[in-house]
Amino acid sequence: MDLTTSYMGLQLRNPVVASAGPLSQSVEGIRSLADGGVGAVVMYSLFEEQLRREAEATALLEDLYDDANAEAMSYFPSVPRSNDDASSAYLRLVEAGAKAIDVPLIASLNGANVGGWTQTARRLQDAGAAGVELNIYFVPGDITVSGAEVEERHLEILSAVKSAVSIPVAVKLSPYFSSVGNMAVQLDAAGADALVLFNRFLQPDIDIDRVSVESGVSLSSPIEGRLPRTWIAVLQGRLNASLAATTGVDTADDVVRYVLAGADVVMTTSSLVRRGPAYAQVLVDGLDRWLTSHEIPLAKARGLLAVPKNAAADAYEREGYVSALEKAKSTYGSLR
Ligand SMILES: Cc1cc2nc3c(=O)[nH]c(=O)nc-3n(C[C@H](O)[C@H](O)[C@H](O)COP(=O)(O)O)c2cc1C
Repeated sequence: MDLTTSYMGLQLRNPVVASAGPLSQSVEGIRSLADGGVGAVVMYSLFEEQLRREAEATALLEDLYDDANAEAMSYFPSVPRSNDDASSAYLRLVEAGAKAIDVPLIASLNGANVGGWTQTARRLQDAGAAGVELNIYFVPGDITVSGAEVEERHLEILSAVKSAVSIPVAVKLSPYFSSVGNMAVQLDAAGADALVLFNRFLQPDIDIDRVSVESGVSLSSPIEGRLPRTWIAVLQGRLNASLAATTGVDTADDVVRYVLAGADVVMTTSSLVRRGPAYAQVLVDGLDRWLTSHEIPLAKARGLLAVPKNAAADAYEREGYVSALEKAKSTYGSLR
């Protein structure tokens, strides 16, 4: 079965993509993901905070040198503009990683504020990234900030990155907007080449024995795929941007579910961390088997179970909700 896929303007051999995660932190890791069978690799993120710290350190040193006369200069340590800051290391990895694999390598920038850090996208492009995934991880903890301001900030960050590069730009966004679909439409109109649904929020918990807040990144479970799948089913066919699904892929069945909802590509980190990079081929083969046994080409399967174009999506979702609750009441109510 032909599994070739167009994603944010890139041609992929199949729609299973390694999402930003810990396995892409070395050339060997990137190569093993590509050898494992994925259609593309998204690298772990370079963070706005890292870039801002570097910019501040450089500015501080420049101030020091500006003020110093030649004699005083000798008292200063040599300028630590080594190649070992986070961005240089990341750029070197993009360059080496892109050369090491024959599938697209997509770099990832992660931030929440409008600022100079977005210009790093250009350096990622120059280093050989096939695209940039922009993870806008913003938790509006300042409760005076309105929803409109949050949306505006997303659009400004996207515009800054788009104006810096000619390679495609994907936006990985959160599911927590008053109107997720409208945010998606606005990002699409602002030129996003793909939307990655969704960011998985770090939700700290409370340890009642140690009486402390515990945070940590956990691997996902398949049930978490339902939220992104719902929105992919709503958005499919309504945007120019490609749609990438991320969260909750454990087996090839989860990949098939996302494709039927309308995902152009299906990303996974948790399953590859749990089972190793070679598990990607198991997911690809499982998708292939399903398509072959149902005699449906990939292009036909994609979006087969999306919300129909002529349906009012809000009424459609509400109808599903009401009938699900009716069903649940009769199922669980009868246990009493
Ligand atoms: C250990 C770990 C590290 C991650 N690092 C990043 C990262 O650097 N940037 C990013 O955008 N997402 C990162 N993610 C999130 C994943 O890209 C993905 O969106 C999320 O894990 C949900 O997908 P999954 O269910 O396939 O794991 C990370 C996830 C894990 C588990």
